[in-house]
Amino acid sequence: MSDRITIRRPDDWHVHFRDGAMMQACLPETARVFARAIAMPNLTPPVRTTDDAIAYRERLRAARPAGSSFEPLMTCYLTHDTDPDDIERGFREGVFAALKLYPAHATTNAAEGVTDLNRLDRVFERAEKIGLPLSMHGEEVDPAIDIFDREAVFIDRRLGPLTEKFPGLKMILEHLTTAAAVDFVRAKFPQVAGTITPHHLELTRTDMLGHGMRPDYYCMPVAKTERDRRALVAAAVSGEPCYFLGTDSAPHPLARKRSIPAAAGIFAAPTAIEIYADVFDRAGALDRLEAFASLNGPRHYGMAPNEDQITLERVEWQAPETLAVNGPEECVPIYRGGQTLRWRLAAA
Ligand code: DOR
Ligand code: ZN
Repeated sequence: MSDRITIRRPDDWHVHFRDGAMMQACLPETARVFARAIAMPNLTPPVRTTDDAIAYRERLRAARPAGSSFEPLMTCYLTHDTDPDDIERGFREGVFAALKLYPAHATTNAAEGVTDLNRLDRVFERAEKIGLPLSMHGEEVDPAIDIFDREAVFIDRRLGPLTEKFPGLKMILEHLTTAAAVDFVRAKFPQVAGTITPHHLELTRTDMLGHGMRPDYYCMPVAKTERDRRALVAAAVSGEPCYFLGTDSAPHPLARKRSIPAAAGIFAAPTAIEIYADVFDRAGALDRLEAFASLNGPRHYGMAPNEDQITLERVEWQAPETLAVNGPEECVPIYRGGQTLRWRLAAA
């Protein structure tokens, strides 16, 4: 087995950069590895219009380390007031890479999301017509639905019908967590693709709840069963074009992760590519890491893959426990921080 692997530079198709000091601290962790990343729009207030996105893109670009050519890709937070003309303008001006659907209250800063999908028909029609992809947080928010069933029920009740109603609308079901989602995406590709996070490749609900409650392993959608986790690993390492990398790196201050209720979200950017490499290595599939990390995403979004490369090496190292934000008094816990990781990014 190889101890080094060189792949085209990957992109991250799902990141929460936040804003202000948090963005300043977190963005370089993504830019160290990835050429491009989809910047999620769930700020307060959300990124709802082309003008919002242009302004946010400028703030993100200004947070890049000196000399970095990292490029944030912008998304439009859908509400019942989203204007089809504005999304078309954003798309044609090269601002919006995707729309983002949050069912209202599904997760952090989703309160202004969508309660009635039918009210977005004109937006979806326009997106379908112009070729603007729809990315979504796929969880049913009906309180009668058990939290572990939210993704599967969303697929049955919402996503399946939406794919029939708008067969030309390209979609991305974000952060797959179930075998049902893996199967649905495969069946619906090339219309629908799915992103997979590093933590959902490693964690089950037993890791989160079975050995003391672990808020550091708490995110939405929550991790599911070992059977689901294995289905996710099989999907990712298959290299099939319908699955690609999206870390859902979602930083929260340590105090918010330890408060009651604890904030949902896992900050994975500092360890993500290293963990993906480890998962692929353990599955004997390092030769398919490049498809998952660097080729399948741009193809689905209709973009060219990156030309330059990164090298990963099999070397043990200890990830830092936290990332300081504006001084160590406010810090963000890092996914698997403090633990020994088996792969690391080689110096350029
Ligand atoms: O756990 C989550 N945290 N899931 C999401 O979808 C959003 C994210 C956040 O913004 O913190
Ligand atoms: Zn997310």
